[in-house]
Amino acid sequence: MTALLPASSVAADLDWWRHAVVYQIYPRSFADSNGDGVGDINGIRSRIGYLAGLGIDAIWINPWYPSPMKDAGYDVSDYRAIEPVFGTMADAEALIAEAHAAGIRVILDIVPNHTSDQHRWFIDALAAGPGSPERDRFIFRDGRGPGGDLPPNDWRSEFGGPAWTRVTEADGRPGQWYLRLFAPEQPDVNWNHPDIHDEFTQTLRFWFDRGVDGFRIDVAHGLVKDGELSDIDGLPFPLPDGTPEGVDHPHWDQPGVHDIFRTWRAVADSYDGPRVFCGEIWVGRDHRLTAYLRPDELHTAFNFNFLMAPWLAGPLRATITSTLAAHAAVGAPATWVLGNHDVCRPVSRYARPQEQVKPGFPSLQGYLALPADLEVGRRRARAAALLSLALPGGAYVFEGEELGLPEVEDIPLAARQDPTVAGTNGENIGRDGCRVPVPWTTGGSSFGFGPDGGDAPWLPQPAEWGASSVEAEQGDPSSSLELYRTALAVRAANPALGDGELTWVEAGPTALAFTREPGFGCWVNLGAEPLPLPAGATVLVSSEPLVDGALPADTAAWLQLA
Ligand code: NOJ
Repeated sequence: MTALLPASSVAADLDWWRHAVVYQIYPRSFADSNGDGVGDINGIRSRIGYLAGLGIDAIWINPWYPSPMKDAGYDVSDYRAIEPVFGTMADAEALIAEAHAAGIRVILDIVPNHTSDQHRWFIDALAAGPGSPERDRFIFRDGRGPGGDLPPNDWRSEFGGPAWTRVTEADGRPGQWYLRLFAPEQPDVNWNHPDIHDEFTQTLRFWFDRGVDGFRIDVAHGLVKDGELSDIDGLPFPLPDGTPEGVDHPHWDQPGVHDIFRTWRAVADSYDGPRVFCGEIWVGRDHRLTAYLRPDELHTAFNFNFLMAPWLAGPLRATITSTLAAHAAVGAPATWVLGNHDVCRPVSRYARPQEQVKPGFPSLQGYLALPADLEVGRRRARAAALLSLALPGGAYVFEGEELGLPEVEDIPLAARQDPTVAGTNGENIGRDGCRVPVPWTTGGSSFGFGPDGGDAPWLPQPAEWGASSVEAEQGDPSSSLELYRTALAVRAANPALGDGELTWVEAGPTALAFTREPGFGCWVNLGAEPLPLPAGATVLVSSEPLVDGALPADTAAWLQLA
């Protein structure tokens, strides 16, 4: 083992997670070292210099464990090994060591709601039959109706259709059903079973022992199901504001889930140097999100309410204010998230008329019918980057966001690989458009994603991808990449940024303006008219050039205040 760290270069700052900028690496799509068309760990290793130069504090790597890849690695068949397509355990240990040596923390992705149907436990459960202890590690039930032909309840899969799959028993007859809130190949585990607790505790320790600094927790709000498996019966989720406490959805955000994370926190706290968690928690109401961030639970959670807010001053200000109040109440830092591997890229979201955007999960599907102006989307995404990096707390940057990549909207249906496509018979085109492999060079057969002449990337790249590559953007002061580099350098050097508080300044109904101590201001113009800046302010960085000293439409500026 080469990585029994923390290395000295990352050990010093115990509060790093309260202000970290975390860069999300979707390993399939980041860098392909061996030319098989799929990104890999050695590809990530080859880009550590780029990541250090960008100025991020940590990387979060989507699942890299052995997987049949029915949901791009979120169907895990062994939690303590490396998927051969991505490399070896030695590669992973070398990556952790090299990232630490470059001052970058490493966060992995743990998937505790479901396994792969190829996990040893599920194979055993199928073989062992109804009523067996092996089946009790999952959620098997008899069906309803004559012959048990109907699913046990009315729960729906996130990828479309019923959340239950029926098995064929050893005698060849249709048998029990198992719960799978996602794809049929992702059976939900039973968190009432002690083996499940032990398995995940050992998994956390396995990776913490290898120097890993934390985990992003997949579907953290989904682990516990109501004991009765009651019908949903039309109950919406997220539950609306004003829902009385005590009214809970049968399989999301069940109160019992908090006990699991208290146990996990104790595991993390048993290590020297903070080992931290970030929950993927889609629960809507702020107080239900921050309940996961009480001092003995998770450290942080993705702020999806901010990600879902349209590019409009009123909704953004409201969500920022309520986020900060709810996090302050539990002493946790907020996070600011513009994109990830599940949602439409911000350039393409903000390219749509924002008044017409419907609230809800921000996948491409929700935007397809609305006309797009990508130039407007790019301006807004640049301004949103400065806004999110100026707000109190930590921030996430999804690979390619720093290049201003748009969603690839025209991937042919046959080339799409997201299980959502099959689950909805092609009605929902899924999430592949934000997962297209990153362009590193202006030319080459995969724009530098893999070696020139290697296998085609696992998703097709658009012909114009090279214009948004690292090679095209670096050194160009007007590029998105240089904007991110400058902003991250200013953020790292400015004591007002990162964790802390803000004070709003009234700057009109289509503007956001706030100050942070000492002496920092962030002004954002979301309206059409130029926005004047405060007298005596010096511009540290702006997302577009100023016009006559004022901020033009869809522009943000960071200011040193007089
Ligand atoms: C959330 C992950 O981000 C997503 O990509 C995955 O499909 C589901 N959880 C199921 O694991």
